[in-house]
Amino acid sequence: MGEGFPLLPESASTFAAELNLLFGYLTAVSLLFAGLIFTLVVAFAIRFRRRSEGDRPQPREGDLRLEALWTLIPLAIALSFFGWGADLFFRMKSPPADPLEIYVVGKQWMWKVQHQEGPREINELHVPLGQPVKLTMTSEDVIHSFYVPAFRVKQDVLPGRYTTLWFEATRTGEFHLFCAEYCGTEHSLMGGRVVVMSPVDYQIWLGGGRSGESLAEAGARLYDRLGCNSCHDAGPTARGPLLEGLYGSEVALAGGGTAIADEAYLRESIVEPGARVTAGYDEIMPTYAGQISEEGLLQIIAHIRSLGGALSLPGPGEPGGAQPSLRSEPGGGQ
Ligand code: CUA
Repeated sequence: MGEGFPLLPESASTFAAELNLLFGYLTAVSLLFAGLIFTLVVAFAIRFRRRSEGDRPQPREGDLRLEALWTLIPLAIALSFFGWGADLFFRMKSPPADPLEIYVVGKQWMWKVQHQEGPREINELHVPLGQPVKLTMTSEDVIHSFYVPAFRVKQDVLPGRYTTLWFEATRTGEFHLFCAEYCGTEHSLMGGRVVVMSPVDYQIWLGGGRSGESLAEAGARLYDRLGCNSCHDAGPTARGPLLEGLYGSEVALAGGGTAIADEAYLRESIVEPGARVTAGYDEIMPTYAGQISEEGLLQIIAHIRSLGGALSLPGPGEPGGAQPSLRSEPGGGQ
């Protein structure tokens, strides 16, 4: 639905058709009731008009069945909006298992994209057709919003934390990418394009754009340069927790409680190490806030992730490794 209807953007993701339907349903019900109310206002104005000077309307008694009817029917309709909308919302917020993960950093005024395999892009995002793609996003400065109308996805991108969105493209081609949160002088220019390619073309593109090192390898280099290993490597002098197998695991915290070592926790532990210290360790790590860019933080997290853990990504070269498992479904998953 909605194809060729000029008021809607083109539809190029698995959500688009259903969102168009839901939007159409909301619009249809609104128009129906608006029409009904206008018609009745006019009809009643004529039907119950004052016919003579001495015209006195009869008092009317309430009718419980009528009251119940016009309460329950709108309630059921309103709940159908809610039920359908909530169901679709949760599906749009929950990426399927094993998506292709890509990192995005927004800054005044550009989108910087990092692929696990290494390639980086500015104001462009290349993705394969028919595969769920999950974006983990943050901002280097102010609030931005990542918006691809053709996919019907929009998510605020905030400084100091990670937000995610996911989509599955159902059509190859180029689609507009916008910033949808006013972020300064060049907000209106902060955009670009999303290029959806066939899985084979995407693999070729990945190879062609390869910068020589993967995201995790870049992270490992940064990790070494900052001397993280002096505290986090195994050994009798280790003053910090081991990072092998950490990603996605549950960490017991000093002072009680636990935390899941996801991207957000790892980021916090680098820029604000005292916030949630692992049980059994002293609060001695200095903060790295301001010393590592958001891209660098994502690289280090990718490195820690490559060291294994409950939700780790297989490293490059391992079986089922960095090459994303492509489900080649010609025509996409719709
Ligand atoms: Cu970034 Cu508006």
